[in-house]
Amino acid sequence: MSYTIALNFEDGVTRFIGCKEGETVLDAAYRQKVNLPMDCSDGVCGTCKGRCEQGAFDLGDEYIDEALSDEEAAEGQVLTCQMVPASDCVIQVPVASTLCKTAVGQVEGTVAAVESLSEDSIELTIDLDDGAELAFLPGQYIHITVPGTGEHRSYSFSSRPGESRVTFLIRNVPNGVMSGYLTERAAVGDRLTLTGPLGSFYLREITRPVLMLAGGTGLAPFLAMLEQLARKREEGQGGEAPIHLIYGVNQDDHLVKTEALDALTEQLPTFTYSTVVVDEASDHPRKGYVTHHMDAEVLHDGDVDVYLCGPPPMVDAVLKHFDAQGIVPQSFHYEKFTPNQVAVAEEVA
Ligand code: FES
Repeated sequence: MSYTIALNFEDGVTRFIGCKEGETVLDAAYRQKVNLPMDCSDGVCGTCKGRCEQGAFDLGDEYIDEALSDEEAAEGQVLTCQMVPASDCVIQVPVASTLCKTAVGQVEGTVAAVESLSEDSIELTIDLDDGAELAFLPGQYIHITVPGTGEHRSYSFSSRPGESRVTFLIRNVPNGVMSGYLTERAAVGDRLTLTGPLGSFYLREITRPVLMLAGGTGLAPFLAMLEQLARKREEGQGGEAPIHLIYGVNQDDHLVKTEALDALTEQLPTFTYSTVVVDEASDHPRKGYVTHHMDAEVLHDGDVDVYLCGPPPMVDAVLKHFDAQGIVPQSFHYEKFTPNQVAVAEEVA
């Protein structure tokens, strides 16, 4: 039996390693040439401390309180030299990947399809070379080279992890480097380089209601998260906590992937979604901004984990809205993106 451990470094780089039954995370990492911080490797110094965000494990009772106190352990902190996983895990490592002599990964692939979904968004499908399956945490992004330019742009996966075919929702930006390539020159079979995965905007273990807020092509990471949850459901995993998505766009014809969202409501009985359109002239039943439609029933008096992916003004508006309503969600993870680039992932817990 082997488990997959995602090591999420301070600089946003994620490395996936395999951990054998009974092996500590530290030993597994070293075996795979990831030099996690360590000094004693004996549960004494505390140098190897990290935070386990997801998964089951055993810390044993060989370490001392000075290395890891009971309070720290109760908060999810771990000593990687003592931690023996009992399932797949996600661990936050509080140093940069370069300090651990590891780096972001790189894979090659070819363009399998480019489809214009609306005037505003394009779906790019890439087949990875040799059927390679790309490991990432649903919600994360990757750099994609733009052929013929020497530049890259960053996009969140809209497909679930562990597939050899990956998809992205890309905003069609006038004069954008990637938009120009996709609308004017892209052809099936074009070679692309993908560098990543990256980012700390990813779905954590679901232990309470979840509210997802998507603006425009900010829908992409939520599709990846929901597809992953649907797969887990198929495998008999997954809880009963409600998950609600509010998906806002500027105009009616910017709403895309609603068939996929409808299918997800069938596959995931705990999932519901609503759409919102800004355009005054729209006949849509819900108009305005996402914040106008965050009803009490989806806020659960703050007992909710909130995920938001959208442009900076949307992030600011939602933060202000929470403030004005006196709501402090249990956690708030957000990713701001500019038209050309995923920008910053942040977390308020
Ligand atoms: Fe010293 Fe883990 S390396 S406690």
